[in-house]
This record gives sequence, C-alpha cells and structure tokens, in this order.
Amino acid sequence: ALERTLSIIKPDAVGKNVIGAIYNRFESTGLRIVAAKMMHLSKEQAEGFYAEHKERPFFGALVEFMTSGPIMVSVLEGENAVLRHREIMGATNPSEALAGTLRADYAETIDENAVHGSDAVESAAREIAYFFSDEEICSRTR
Ligand code: CMP
Repeated sequence: ALERTLSIIKPDAVGKNVIGAIYNRFESTGLRIVAAKMMHLSKEQAEGFYAEHKERPFFGALVEFMTSGPIMVSVLEGENAVLRHREIMGATNPSEALAGTLRADYAETIDENAVHGSDAVESAAREIAYFFSDEEICSRTR
C-alpha cells in the first residue's frame, strides 16, 4: 500500500554532513520526500517524541543526544514506505546492521545511530503529526 513514514537524520549524521548522502539513499530506492525541515529540538520536544521510552534506562541519554544539535525531519512516501525505510536504515544497533545500510555506514553506537524511522504504519501517523501539519505535507504522485 502507499504509505508514509517519519524519518529523522539525527545530530551525529547532520554533524557528519551526510544529509544529502542519506536523502540519496531514499530517493534512489524510489521513496519520495514529501515534507522536510531542520529543527533543533528542545528537551520537551524530544521527551514528547520519545514518550514511549520514558521508563527505559537509556531515555535520559537519548533526550540529551537528540537535543545536542540540529536534526533533519522528513516525511517519506511510497509503496511499503515504513518497511522499506527500516530496511535502508538497518538494525538499531549499528554493530548488527547489514552492510550497505545507513547505520552500518554512518552510525557509531546504538545511542548515536544516525537515523530514526517509524516502526509501523500506526506509529508513523503519530510521529508525522508530531512534527508536521497536513498543509506542510506535499503528497506527490509524479
Ligand atoms: P530510535 O529508533 O531513534 O528510537 C529510540 C532510540 O533509543 C533508538 O533509536 C536508539 O538510538 C536508542 N537506544 C539506546 N539504547 C537502546 C536500546 N537498548 N534499545 C533500543 N533503542 C536504544
């Protein structure tokens, strides 16, 4: 089905100056960027986005990292976009990420792992709405 997913290029990857390289991976596999903005999250914004992880031991470090510099937040659209984006990213832990995936190429550790992507269609809808209004999303069919 035609889906949308939320993609975040995290502060480590923005710092490595690889926004374009990462966008190229999305576009070369047919995913379309239908919304995008650079943001520097506040603590409150990062805590709200990752609210489902608030009891996890890594939550404090996660919020600290995600607020440490600018991020690039995008909505990607395409057939099976959620799963395809996850495949392009690779495993959450870069030491387990397959060769050729974004995390294998750009991530150093599980805490600083270059990219985030929605894990399901339902979470994608929630995550997209967290950052974008409907008017900011430019659906494209050609
Ligand atoms: P992300 O997809 O952005 O969602 C939550 C983030 O927490 C995850 O990527 C990792 O960068 C980070 N994290 C740190 N430790 C863990 C862990 N043990 N399991 C899952 N995520 C972790």
